[in-house]
Amino acid sequence: MTEVPLPLTVRDLTADDLPVCGWAGSGVPRGLDRAARGEADYLVVCGPSGLPLATGGVDWTKHPDAGELYQLHVHELVRSAGVGTVLIAALEQRIRDRGRDRAELGVDVQEPRPQRLYERLGYTAYGSEQVGWDQLQPDGSHRPYTTTATLLRKPLR
Ligand SMILES: CC(C)(COP(=O)(O)OP(=O)(O)OC[C@H]1O[C@@H](n2cnc3c(N)ncnc32)[C@H](O)[C@@H]1OP(=O)(O)O)[C@@H](O)C(=O)NCCC(=O)NCCS
Repeated sequence: MTEVPLPLTVRDLTADDLPVCGWAGSGVPRGLDRAARGEADYLVVCGPSGLPLATGGVDWTKHPDAGELYQLHVHELVRSAGVGTVLIAALEQRIRDRGRDRAELGVDVQEPRPQRLYERLGYTAYGSEQVGWDQLQPDGSHRPYTTTATLLRKPLR
């Protein structure tokens, strides 16, 4: 196998990113709106071209003393290379910078792989809840999707 170093930068999502973030789902434009209202921070991880390889947000509204990570997406072409871990670390730093001491997130019970990643990064499951969102279909359309989410949290100090 040949390995290529991939310099990554993390920054806030901008309107210029939206046309090239279609792969990340319909929640990305809403993330930009929520960031403008101060309800969330919404980040992108970019490769050397400056184009986003990953997107994800931290929601400030659900827990007064924590931030909730949401809508984490790494482009499928660069998964399992550490990009998601970089994104999660940057979102956790935003939570610390805001003076909050806990990260929360919910993970679909139908998708065991992300939960393994979060547990390896120090998250612990403590409950579950019913959730739903618009899910991107292979044909580019979106369809409502409901499921049970396992709730995880991680102390940040
Ligand atoms: C979940 C998700 C965000 C993780 O992103 P990612 O970039 O693949 O995550 P990482 O590469 O940091 O870690 C994932 C795997 O790569 C491995 N890995 C981490 N760094 C690595 C590296 N430098 N080289 C090779 N593998 C590495 C990890 O061990 C982990 O292994 P696993 O597949 O057994 O869990 C991504 O898979 C995704 O977008 N999934 C679809 C949407 C989704 O499910 N979002 C989560 C909602 S809660």
